[in-house]
Parts: sequence; C-alpha cells; structure tokens
Amino acid sequence: MRDPEKLEAETWLVSAGRPEAAGEPLNAPLVAASTFRHGADRGYARNEGSPTWESLETIVAGLEGGEATAFSSGMAAIAAAIELVPVGGEIVYPADCYQGVATLLARGAVQGRWTVRQLAAEDTAGWIAAIDSAAMLWLESPSNPLLAIGDVAGICEAARDSDTLVAVDNTFATPLNQRPLERGADVVVHSATKYIGGHSDLLCGLAVTRSGDLTAQIRTSRILQGATPGTMEVFLATRGIRTLAVRLRTAEANAFELATRLQAHPAVVATRYPGLAEHPGHELAAQQLDGFGSMISFDLVDAAAADRACERMQLVEHATSLGGVESTIERRAATPGQEHLPPGLLRMSVGIEAVEDIWSDIEQAIAQ
Ligand SMILES: Cc1ncc(COP(=O)(O)O)c(C=O)c1O
Repeated sequence: MRDPEKLEAETWLVSAGRPEAAGEPLNAPLVAASTFRHGADRGYARNEGSPTWESLETIVAGLEGGEATAFSSGMAAIAAAIELVPVGGEIVYPADCYQGVATLLARGAVQGRWTVRQLAAEDTAGWIAAIDSAAMLWLESPSNPLLAIGDVAGICEAARDSDTLVAVDNTFATPLNQRPLERGADVVVHSATKYIGGHSDLLCGLAVTRSGDLTAQIRTSRILQGATPGTMEVFLATRGIRTLAVRLRTAEANAFELATRLQAHPAVVATRYPGLAEHPGHELAAQQLDGFGSMISFDLVDAAAADRACERMQLVEHATSLGGVESTIERRAATPGQEHLPPGLLRMSVGIEAVEDIWSDIEQAIAQ
C-alpha cells in the first residue's frame, strides 16, 4: 500500500489508486455495476460505492489529507457539504464566489433553511469575528472570478477549536497548490470537472473531510440525494488527475507570462492574477499557495469591447468552464447572476498551448 505521507504529490498522483495484486490491471478498471452479489461488504453502488469511484477517492484523499467522497458534479459535492449546516444556522460566504454557490445559498435562505451573510474575502477580522455566530464559514480562495485571496490559514486556525464548520472550495487552487484540511478546515470541495478531470469532457465533484463523522454525514447525503458520479466520468477523472501536476505547472507558467503582458497592454484596464506583485493579495497568496494557478481575469473598456474580443478569438475557445488543457475565455457579466461584475471583465482559463500562440491570439482579439 503506498503512503501519501512518504511520496511527493506528483508521485502520489501517478501511483495511487491502482489495483495492487499480481495479475491485476495497472489501471483501476471501469466497473459498470449498480449491484454486487450478496455476501460481502458491497451490495449496491449508490450505498457502498464502486471500486472505480474508490480509486479517484483514494488519490484525492491522499492529496488533501482526509477522506474523499466522489459526487456527480462539483455542485453535488457542495450541496452535500452545505447540508451539514443545522436548520436555521448561519452561513457566511465570500462577496465574490462561484455563482452556483451564491445562488444555492440565497435560495436556501429564502426557503428558511438557513440564514446567510457575505463578507469580502480580504476581511480577515470580519471572518474571525463571524466564528461566534456562524454555523459554517464558506471560503473560496482564489475566488471566481475576481481572484480575491482570503486568509484561509488564519481563518481556519481561528475556527479550529470552535463548533463552526469551515468549508473551502479548493477548485481554483487544486490540492497541489493549497491543502486547507492541513490548516484546520473541516471540509474541502472540488469541482473535478475542472483541473482534476482537466479535459473538459466530464462532470464530477469531490468532498473531502478529516473527520469520520463528517464523512459519514456526507456519504449519507450522497446516498439519499442520489448524487452519485457516473462510472465513466470517474474513470476519465482518474485518468485525467494522473497528469494534474504537469498540466497545472505548464498552465501556471503560461498564466504568469500572459498576466504580465496583459497588465502592460494599453487596451487592458485591469488585470487580476495573484502571481502579479501588484495584486492586492499577492503576499498572502505567496505564503499560502504553492502556485498561483492558471486563472486570470482582465477588463477591457466595456462590454462591447469584451464581446468583440471573445468573437475574434481563433485559438482561445469562447466557452465557459475552466481547468482544461485548452485555453477558454468568457465575459462573466453576461452570465445570469453575474451582472454585478465589471461589464468588460473577461475570465480566462489558461491552457497548456505554447504561450506565444495564446498571446498572439489575445493580442489580435483585443486590438482596438
Ligand atoms: C469554483 C467552482 N466551484 C464549483 C463549481 C461547480 O462545479 P460543477 O460545474 O462541476 O458542478 C464551479 C463551476 O464552474 C466552480 O468554478
């Protein structure tokens, strides 16, 4: 049995979650089964999981340092994590975060399921003060799409001995750049649709905890909500995660170069990338992240200029989502629920293409 404590993350990604007995395939097989013969621990896949899911769960659990549960999507994992909040509990969440989460939380508040409050990611004192009243602090850093940096370590540390649950959406950072459970978070969620899968060909999610009790509750949610992942999707996500380190480091180097050039470009009125020294969260990001990621957001002068740039892109795909090998771009304020964002804001997920090719495409697309 391989031990995540003794291996570098890059090695664990490649070697964990494989069958180990002589004669077995190197890769965890795609087990297409809803039901299993009686007489052993596994009876029905929705209840006890499947060997295919367990392979991905083992890899992600080792990276994050906890127990992982795979879901049908990032939102399914998020919904299961949020279900940990008792009825009437307060959930504090960032002013900028993935809009699906913001919508889910606002809807639950209207339904009377919980109460909600938003804080700026950077307001560390506010987050720490909220520990007294909140049932759950929901963190997302770097945030989607403004790339705000919250003090994940400081907030988790302050909440460590309290009854307040701290949940972190670690999708943008990936487990290679940030491991919130080590800092004291209770739950980490991922949209595995993004960097973990890495090829824009599947939907999958994961929730990881460091307590058996929280994992049991999250698994019960998966069973009762039926939020189980597709076997093919998990098989592809497992195949995808093997190359996470090389994909991420290449995309990250590209993102740094592109952000530096965008910042100096006369058509660009704002550039947000935590790796830039000018980013307000740069120092904190440098302390708490092992890499700055491959998401950039930058603003053109107005919505028309940003829409025109998206239409003109020839290599960079005009599409939503992120974390794939290909570069994608979209104007976020055009997304329902995101109208409050700067109208000319373009969110870009930088891929692993040659950086000069990406830059040539951006340059011709944003030329005035
Ligand atoms: C930060 C973040 N969290 C969660 C999600 C939701 O993931 P999924 O689409 O897999 O449900 C997304 C999707 O864009 C995201 O960007």
